Amino acid sequence: MAANKTGGLADVVAGRTSISTVGKEGHGLHYRGYSVEDLAERGSFEETAFLLLYGKLPNQTELQMYRRRLASKRELPEPLLAILERLPGTAHPMDVLRTGCSALAAFEPEEQRRGPHEVADRLLAAFGSMLLYWQQYHRSGRRIDTASATPEESVAAHFLRLLHGQAPSELHEKAMDVSLTLYAEHEFNASTFAARVTASTLSDFYSSIATGIGTLRGPLHGGANEAAMELIDAYDSPEEAEQGVLSLLSRKQLIMGFGHRVYTVSDPRSDIVKRWSRRLAEAAGTLRIYNISERIEQLMRREKRLFPNLDFYSASAYRLLGIPTPLFTPVFVLSRTSGWAAHVIEQRGNNRLIRPRADYDGPEPQPWLLLEERS
Ligand code: COA
Repeated sequence: MAANKTGGLADVVAGRTSISTVGKEGHGLHYRGYSVEDLAERGSFEETAFLLLYGKLPNQTELQMYRRRLASKRELPEPLLAILERLPGTAHPMDVLRTGCSALAAFEPEEQRRGPHEVADRLLAAFGSMLLYWQQYHRSGRRIDTASATPEESVAAHFLRLLHGQAPSELHEKAMDVSLTLYAEHEFNASTFAARVTASTLSDFYSSIATGIGTLRGPLHGGANEAAMELIDAYDSPEEAEQGVLSLLSRKQLIMGFGHRVYTVSDPRSDIVKRWSRRLAEAAGTLRIYNISERIEQLMRREKRLFPNLDFYSASAYRLLGIPTPLFTPVFVLSRTSGWAAHVIEQRGNNRLIRPRADYDGPEPQPWLLLEERS
């Protein structure tokens, strides 16, 4: 594969899955047959994670038990807390989560768990604790208690409570919950595919998730939500944003949060998060960032025929939830762990080592050169 355009495995079908369908008619997203709109509006992140991991929507009892199970797994072992304290406060939070994932593997190895679902649930419950224990310790020197406040505290409420030191409003909890649902799963995206490659070597569960975290970090993938916020923050008004983005486009720069490899018409998740971004902005009484975002969206449609992907309006929604920009991509981890885990379990269920071929375009066979003969 020579040029970039033909590379990147674009349009290559690299395997089978029964977990989700992405952009079947250029748009649309379904997790195990359920539309992301229904899951976001009528369900919850816990129902979504259960659906992805266990293959069906939970009934009332299963959902209550699942919420309780996750809520009971939020405390971290002492030596892991010590590691989080020793990491620099200036570390990239994605480094913190990747390290936390690896450290938990050493303290709670998969062989000693009851099965992959137990590890998946533990990581889903513990990533928020790791991130915010590290963040609060280095920001204020406080060793926060990461245990759940109630027996069924949601992932969304736990995250926002640890971040802000108080329980979130209903509106904020629901907005966060919707965002986690939207980020949960996306077929063979780069990080999920990478996690499946690791799983296909019969490596352990934590290694697959750590692979996913490392792959998600890049700005062409999960890192785009942070990059989108930095872009929006560069402007004080819609007019300034219009001039600024036009100038970036004239210099052939990528505008983060726009475009998609699979969707050709629209990203269904963007419409949902955009509505939440507006709702949060109205509740906060400040539409400035929302209006700047909308102007950039209009301009990108007009100038490049590109639509926003999930990351673009997630940026303004997260700002309104009081989430610091460097934590945007880590929040993606908290959610996508459910999708990664479902894919690792699926890969293991019908495994064959993932090992593609490459077209070689290097030098022809060469005679060996002695050291003194080399230039
Ligand atoms: N800003 C400006 N131009 C963009 C663009 C963006 N965000 N996304 C795509 N384009 C342009 C490309 O420059 C290219 O133009 P050209 O044909 O004149 O060279 C054309 O649209 C096709 O893009 P291409 O790079 O082939 O698409 P891809 O499928 O390889 O890349 C993304 C998909 C998502 C990596 C790409 O759209 C991107 O980099 N977006 C920004 C990062 C982002 O938001 N990532 C999160 C994805 S959910």
